[in-house]
Amino acid sequence: MSDFWSGYIIVITAINIIGCAALLFFTRRKKSEANENETTGHVYDGIEEYDNPLPRWWLWMFYITIIFSVIYLILYPGLGKFQGILGWSQVKQYEEEVAEADAKYLPLFEQYASMSIKDLQDEPEALAMGQSIFANTCFGCHGADGRGGIGFPNLTDDEWIYGGTPEDIIYSIEEGRQGMMPPWGETLGEEKLSAVLHYILSENQVERTFREGLVAEGKGVYQTYCQACHSPDLSGNTALGAPNLKDDVWLHGGSISMIKNVIRNGVSANMPPHDEILGDHKIHLVAAYVYSLSHEGEQSK
Ligand code: HEC
Ligand code: HEC
Repeated sequence: MSDFWSGYIIVITAINIIGCAALLFFTRRKKSEANENETTGHVYDGIEEYDNPLPRWWLWMFYITIIFSVIYLILYPGLGKFQGILGWSQVKQYEEEVAEADAKYLPLFEQYASMSIKDLQDEPEALAMGQSIFANTCFGCHGADGRGGIGFPNLTDDEWIYGGTPEDIIYSIEEGRQGMMPPWGETLGEEKLSAVLHYILSENQVERTFREGLVAEGKGVYQTYCQACHSPDLSGNTALGAPNLKDDVWLHGGSISMIKNVIRNGVSANMPPHDEILGDHKIHLVAAYVYSLSHEGEQSK
């Protein structure tokens, strides 16, 4: 806010408060002059309007409101850029509450941080803390139950784009992941696009008969253009984030037209880094929770 608008707001607010006070003050003075039971001279349907002063309690309520607003504006932010003498702000209050909670949980965080992700699978309390971090931070993209959606991977299955070891999961959360599948529509043209799609579908044991020649042609296309990233046997490459193409788990939708669309137009996905948002202790706990989703019931030996 510029100084001009800040000053503008302060002046308008002050005029308003002083105006209200003045109005009350002058109407109050009328009281001593007003005679009891004098009427205004207005009569409606035989009802006469008395010209009595405002009731005292009502006046006092107004005075108290005005005094309250002045004190409030001195203590708290409200007048333009003036922050109030208490220095209160929402951000500050939030930070104080977070610091308080951190101090309370720090010993617990440190205890869990010294345990491996696998050992934490036996600590229901640690997993519950991980779950609540997940519900606060991750659920918008991966869903409340971690099952994800189109473009957002399911974290509860055994299929990992970037690997499912504790180290891989921690890395995904800390550093984020950026998957980029280039578009192939122009390079391949309709015929080769259709051929490679059929080859991929045939490798997924889809209940369908494929024209032999088309599948063979598609395999050739795959070997030329796709295997560098998705690996020669279609099993994917966790280092590049190129998904397995023969497991019938589809990040970007499993209908034939959706798969074709991804090959034609390419796609990119972005998992933001969380190292600064969460810090090591919380990442460790949420990683333990994510790990537990696909290892349900497994205990660490
Ligand atoms: C803004 C959306 C968004 C948020 C928030 C988000 N993620 Fe992700 N996450 C993604 C996307 C998109 C991918 C897939 C990236 C790709 O395909 O390149 C992903 C990938 C992952 C992976 C790798 C999955 C695999 O199969 O290898 C893990 C693990 C993960 N997220 C965990 C988390 C956790 C835990 C949180 C919360 C701390 C979180 N994510 C928050 C969007 C998000
Ligand atoms: C430069 C590496 C690269 C090449 C080359 C490449 N891809 Fe991909 N592909 C990816 C990545 C990375 C993703 C995942 C994008 C994401 O994270 O969302 C992907 C995703 C896909 C998907 C979606 C998978 C799903 O689960 O929804 C299909 C289908 C696919 N690629 C097919 C192909 C075909 C067919 C070719 C060859 C014509 C090809 N790709 C070439 C990197 C590559």
